[in-house]
Amino acid sequence: MNTFQGAVPSLYEARFLYLENLFDRIEWEVLFQNNHPVHIDLGAGDGGYTAAMAQKHSEFNFLAVERLKGRAIKIAKKSIRFNCPNLRVIRLESAYLIRWLVKPSSVDALHLLFPDPWPKRKQQKFRLLQPEFVVDLAKVIKPDGYFHFATDHEEYFEIGSSAVDQNPDFQRIVDSPWGELPPTDFEKQWVAQGKKIGRAFWKRK
Ligand SMILES: C[S@@+](CC[C@H](N)C(=O)[O-])C[C@H]1O[C@@H](n2cnc3c(N)ncnc32)[C@H](O)[C@@H]1O
Repeated sequence: MNTFQGAVPSLYEARFLYLENLFDRIEWEVLFQNNHPVHIDLGAGDGGYTAAMAQKHSEFNFLAVERLKGRAIKIAKKSIRFNCPNLRVIRLESAYLIRWLVKPSSVDALHLLFPDPWPKRKQQKFRLLQPEFVVDLAKVIKPDGYFHFATDHEEYFEIGSSAVDQNPDFQRIVDSPWGELPPTDFEKQWVAQGKKIGRAFWKRK
């Protein structure tokens, strides 16, 4: 069992999802104690976007996935500070979570925002948004659910978006299904530097 061994005050430790094992799929109703639609933010960073969305959309549940401990703790703290019991965080690798821990057709929306770009040619195989991962996303997103992708890396945007476009389970849509979106923490930095942002939305058929 993963624990903070008493190092973290219990108030925000309670906003972490700890798994008793890495084989049973997550029961959303048990985790959130309701049956509201579930959004997952993959690689949520410091959680500025997820927390703002959770605050704005108390009708949805949000799971932030982040592999770095310090960032995951910041998200849990924001969940308390923003008064968002509908926001939980798990410290885990995104692809594992999607493939092994999420039930088929159980998620209403997946957000993949400013994922690590792995810019060098030899590193591109480490990028999350690849055709095989899109197949896994299609399995967990409910029909009429959404996938939301944004990045400042032009080439990743083109290659990643094309992988989703080519999957017959997804249909690209023009507008955000949730209206105006809060900026992510990384997005604020890139916009301040004048970088162009690529963003796209797809509906699960
Ligand atoms: C460039 S940051 C973007 C963070 C946030 N989405 C934002 O836009 O502010 C990418 C984040 O994804 C996390 N990350 C990268 N690969 C991951 C993976 N496979 N599973 C979980 N988290 C991952 C990194 O630790 C980092 O916090």
